[in-house]
Amino acid sequence: MTEQVIADVKQWIAEAEQLIIERLQTPLHVEEKTSQADIVTNVDKGVEAFFVKKITTHYPQDGILGEEGIAEPVTSMDGRVWIIDPIDGTLNFAKQQDHYCMMLALYDNQQPVVGFIYDVPRRELLWGGPSMGVYCNDKAITEVNPDTLADGIISVNTHMFVDNRYRVREIAMDALAVRMTGCAGIGFKEVILGKQNAYISMLAPWDYAPGMAIAAGLGIKTTPLNGEPFTFKERVPVLVAAENTHQEIEKYL
Ligand code: IPD
Ligand code: CA
Ligand code: CA
Ligand code: CA
Repeated sequence: MTEQVIADVKQWIAEAEQLIIERLQTPLHVEEKTSQADIVTNVDKGVEAFFVKKITTHYPQDGILGEEGIAEPVTSMDGRVWIIDPIDGTLNFAKQQDHYCMMLALYDNQQPVVGFIYDVPRRELLWGGPSMGVYCNDKAITEVNPDTLADGIISVNTHMFVDNRYRVREIAMDALAVRMTGCAGIGFKEVILGKQNAYISMLAPWDYAPGMAIAAGLGIKTTPLNGEPFTFKERVPVLVAAENTHQEIEKYL
C-alpha cells in the first residue's frame, strides 16, 4: 500500500512540476491574504487543485487538509489524512522564482506515514518516513549532522528572531551562523540533508507535517517549542534539529 502511495506521489509531483513550468509562462495572479507578505497565487491554487483531484480519484476514502482549502478540510486527524502545501515559500516563488517547494504528507491516526518535499528549482525530491528511511532523488540518506550549535548553521523565522521569541535570537547568536530562507520545506530539507543543524519557525500543519514525517525516518526530532502536543490545527512554534543541537536548544527554553 505505502509503496503504491510513493509511486503515485512521485508521478503526481512530476506532473505538477510541468504544471508550474507552464503557468510560469504567463504573469502570475497574486492575491493578498492578510498582508503584502502573505499572498497566494494562481499557481498555489492550481497545484493544490491538481493534488486534490489525484487524491480523491486514487484514495477516495482519505481525508485532506490543504493550505488553500480547495477540498473540504478534515475536522479531525483520525484515519488517513493527506496534508498539502502546494507551494511552500509563496513569497519567494512570486518574487524570486527560487527557494520554494511543493510538499505533501500522509498521516494515519496522527502518525506520520510518509512525507515529500520537492525543491522545484533544484529538482530535488526528498521523501521518507519512520518505517522506510529517507531518500533524496532516491539516494538513501543515512547520516545525521553531528555538529553542536556552535559548530553549525541554523535557520530561523525572521519575526521570532527580531522579537527574540522563545529566545530565538540568543540561540541564533550562539550558533556558528544563522540564515532566514522564508521556506519551511527548505528549512526541514537543510536539516535532514545535514547542511544545517536546526530550523526554528512558526508553522501551520502543512508547513511541518511533511518535513516531520521525513525527519522521523532519520530519528531527527521535530518538537513544539511551547510544550503543547501538535494538534494539526493552529500555527505553532516548531524546532527541528539533529540530536546534539536539539538537546542544546532545549536548554534555552
Ligand atoms: C510560509 C513559509 C515561511 C514560514 C511561514 C509559512 P507559505 O509558507 O514556509 O517560511 O515562515 O510560516 O506560512 O505560506 O509560503 O506556504
Ligand atoms: Ca501561504
Ligand atoms: Ca507553507
Ligand atoms: Ca503554501
